Amino acid sequence: MHGRQSKGGAAASPIKLAVKDLRISYGKAVALQGVNLEIHEHEIFGIIGPANAGKTSFLKALNRMDVFNTGMRVDGEIRFNGLDTRHLKNVYALRSRIGVVFPLPVGLPMTVYDNVALSPRWRGITNKAELDVIVQRCLTRAALWDEVKDRLGALGSLLSGGQQQRLTIARALSQEPDLLMLDEFSIAVDPVTTMRIEDVLKELRQEVTIILVTNLVQQARRLADRTAFFLNGECVEIGVTEDLFTGEVKDKRTRDYVEGRFG
Ligand SMILES: Nc1ncnc2c1ncn2[C@@H]1O[C@H](COP(=O)(O)OP(=O)(O)OP(=O)(O)O)[C@@H](O)[C@H]1O
Ligand SMILES: [Mg+2]
Repeated sequence: MHGRQSKGGAAASPIKLAVKDLRISYGKAVALQGVNLEIHEHEIFGIIGPANAGKTSFLKALNRMDVFNTGMRVDGEIRFNGLDTRHLKNVYALRSRIGVVFPLPVGLPMTVYDNVALSPRWRGITNKAELDVIVQRCLTRAALWDEVKDRLGALGSLLSGGQQQRLTIARALSQEPDLLMLDEFSIAVDPVTTMRIEDVLKELRQEVTIILVTNLVQQARRLADRTAFFLNGECVEIGVTEDLFTGEVKDKRTRDYVEGRFG
């Protein structure tokens, strides 16, 4: 029975994100067809699936990237904190609530300190002592502080790949997001750093809702309360993560995928 329990007990929490009949297309190519799901506050929600499944497109739609990518069409309903994001006048306000971490670190061409202080400055925080506290806290939560505390003035691009990815996470956290979306964050990160970041994510669950897109099914197993399996634009199945791995699946394709038979 233990496998049915949500890791963080998140299933009882309020709904953070509700997606209804979400369809995404690029011209005639359909990337996602009719996805329905709900994600609860403080849940780590995993999305697994092979290339071309529509995972990244899903994250982009949540972040309203279609506003900037004219070739991307999004239909259906996405409610974030109860608000329908499809009809928001100010997508920047939405995006400030959502932190995104991409597969490869996207360092801004500035110092380690400024990478993390940028968003708080945008929020109007100018006091140096206050910024120092925020920068230290975000770098600590991203498990990077000890490695960079003596070179906060160095360019972020001079850090190692794994450090840059943690800097990206620190920067996402500096937004104080409601929702943190990670898209295959560990592609360019060594296994030890990956495990450190996984530990960070487990702790962050206390304060933020997390969507974890991953090609590594075992990473979803380690971290996610519930997991969705996407395949060729279809959300094949959503379940308590442990159930998907112990064979309690509704669709045979899910079992084949988690057991490594394709993808
Ligand atoms: N900007 C774009 N323009 C046109 N087609 C796109 C664009 N972005 C994605 N697609 C198409 O949408 C489909 C889904 O792509 P998406 O990137 O969402 O998949 P994915 O599951 O993230 O794959 P991967 O595991 O390789 O990252 C693919 O067929 C892709 O070619
Ligand atoms: Mg992708």
